[in-house]
Amino acid sequence: MTERGADIHRVFHDVERAASAGPAVEFLRAVEAAPSVLAYRTRLEEHLAPVAGETVLDVGCGAGHHAAAIAAARAAADAPGPVVGMDRPRMLEEAADRYGDAVRWLPGAAEAMPLEDDSVDAVYAERVLMYVDDAVDVVAEMARVRRPGGRVALFELDYASMVLGGDPKTADEVLGVVCGTVACDRMGRALGRLLTDAGVLVVEQAPFAMPIPPPVWASAVRAPVEEAVADGRLDAGRVAAWFDAVEAPGAYPGSVTGVLACGR
Ligand SMILES: C[S@@+](CC[C@H](N)C(=O)[O-])C[C@H]1O[C@@H](n2cnc3c(N)ncnc32)[C@H](O)[C@@H]1O
Repeated sequence: MTERGADIHRVFHDVERAASAGPAVEFLRAVEAAPSVLAYRTRLEEHLAPVAGETVLDVGCGAGHHAAAIAAARAAADAPGPVVGMDRPRMLEEAADRYGDAVRWLPGAAEAMPLEDDSVDAVYAERVLMYVDDAVDVVAEMARVRRPGGRVALFELDYASMVLGGDPKTADEVLGVVCGTVACDRMGRALGRLLTDAGVLVVEQAPFAMPIPPPVWASAVRAPVEEAVADGRLDAGRVAAWFDAVEAPGAYPGSVTGVLACGR
């Protein structure tokens, strides 16, 4: 396996089988302070609002930035309580190296969480469901482990909503390739239904327009498109002209809709 940007999605799907978690961790660190990420995280945290003693669970916590930030904010606000970050063991090594034991790093699969029924007060997952084989199973697990009435939040990108410039025919072909890199390219719009079917009362669904900054463009657009050119799925000359146009000064940089769904 090469370590080109396109492989980041494969790593997020199954980090244990990847040659290295490194590029995926670098990607998460590159976007963790993006204004568009901070915007939805602020709203997500307002919904979770844990009081002292409550347990918060981050499902698919990745490199651990958000779970660690929540633990620090709780300590500063004098509302301490357990914060649990759950992910595959390899990803948690990175999180523990960087953030130590402010968070309880719990290895496990989101489809079968190593947690008791009704054992957490607030649970969330960000940019995880679009990578799993069966989001219904994961949301059912989130509903199982939260106590009755506990808060739930999901945030997912909806890749099929991506807005790209350039000539429309090539843009549509590029979008098709990009959407093929995630297990579900319409996850954002599916969140409310997933929560409802799991018995969670949806209280808010908020769309967020997410610009595509350079690290995301490189890994989520350029790399899979170059791979499609290399294996003959896209025409090299047309794609090169398209990149010239959409990366030129003044061109629209691209955007995608992310959806935050909150329930209780
Ligand atoms: C795009 S990253 C997002 C990480 C973090 N939530 C964030 O917003 O920065 C997706 C994460 O989901 C994890 N993941 C994917 N499928 C999983 C599964 N079935 N069980 C547990 N974690 C999973 C990956 O290992 C990866 O860390």
